[in-house]
Amino acid sequence: MRFVSAWCDIPNTCALAYRLRGVQHRYDQRLALDLPAWEVRAGSVTAVVGPSGAGKSTLLRLLALLEPPSAGEVISRPAGPPLAPGQVTLVYQRPLLLRTSVYENAALGLRLRGKRGRLPAVDALLERLSLMRQARRPVASLSGGEQQRVALARALALGPEVLLLDEPTANLDPAHVALVEEIIRERQQDTGMTVVWVTHNLFQARRISSELLVLWEGRPLAAGSTEAVFAAPGSPEAQAFLRGERIW
Ligand SMILES: Nc1ncnc2c1ncn2[C@@H]1O[C@H](COP(=O)(O)OP(=O)(O)OP(=O)(O)O)[C@@H](O)[C@H]1O
Ligand SMILES: [Mg+2]
Repeated sequence: MRFVSAWCDIPNTCALAYRLRGVQHRYDQRLALDLPAWEVRAGSVTAVVGPSGAGKSTLLRLLALLEPPSAGEVISRPAGPPLAPGQVTLVYQRPLLLRTSVYENAALGLRLRGKRGRLPAVDALLERLSLMRQARRPVASLSGGEQQRVALARALALGPEVLLLDEPTANLDPAHVALVEEIIRERQQDTGMTVVWVTHNLFQARRISSELLVLWEGRPLAAGSTEAVFAAPGSPEAQAFLRGERIW
């Protein structure tokens, strides 16, 4: 994989996008996430898997720097200048869309950065995500899968350094799943962006990621290179989960 970064010329000395230490996150006293130590390599695609309620979306919110953890530290780019909120983009599990056209929804991030008129980056992404025909339609008239692709177009148009994806293909048919995976992979290889990808699809996790985190009840059940974790999950629970068995 090619390593491209605006802030680091020496990959081995500054190759982390995040370092988490002693991170705990609570909602009304209830512990939703408990990650003693975890790192995300810059320029990697990391998959996060785990049963419903395991803390995956909570982890993404912390990585998006939207809120601090209840305890511990989420350090972004530990060896460089910390990530600014604008350099991290989160594509939510339920797309956040405005009551306007598909085009304006896809363009929103760039509009907020002062870009006016027709935007070539948005045109290209809508074309690529087979949404150009719907560009003028109100976004509310789109199917769930189409809306998910609009949210993805908006995120990619921003050219983020870190892209956080919360089940971005959950509502897509197999052909569009393949298309989205291809677009992200291509973009990631061209720009070196860091991707953290939450998915319920273990096959997808295996296809798209180089690193894997398995969460269970907020705790890490297994973490490491995707290949290594699938080959040797390390605990009977992790093994059962990665075989698609119920573990709770
Ligand atoms: N805003 C909130 N207030 C209270 N509890 C919350 C809140 N957000 C999440 N939780 C709880 O924290 C736990 C982890 O939630 P989270 O959304 O991170 O899970 P998840 O792994 O993303 O699940 P899913 O696969 O269903 O999306 C769950 O028990 C959830 O009910
Ligand atoms: Mg979630």
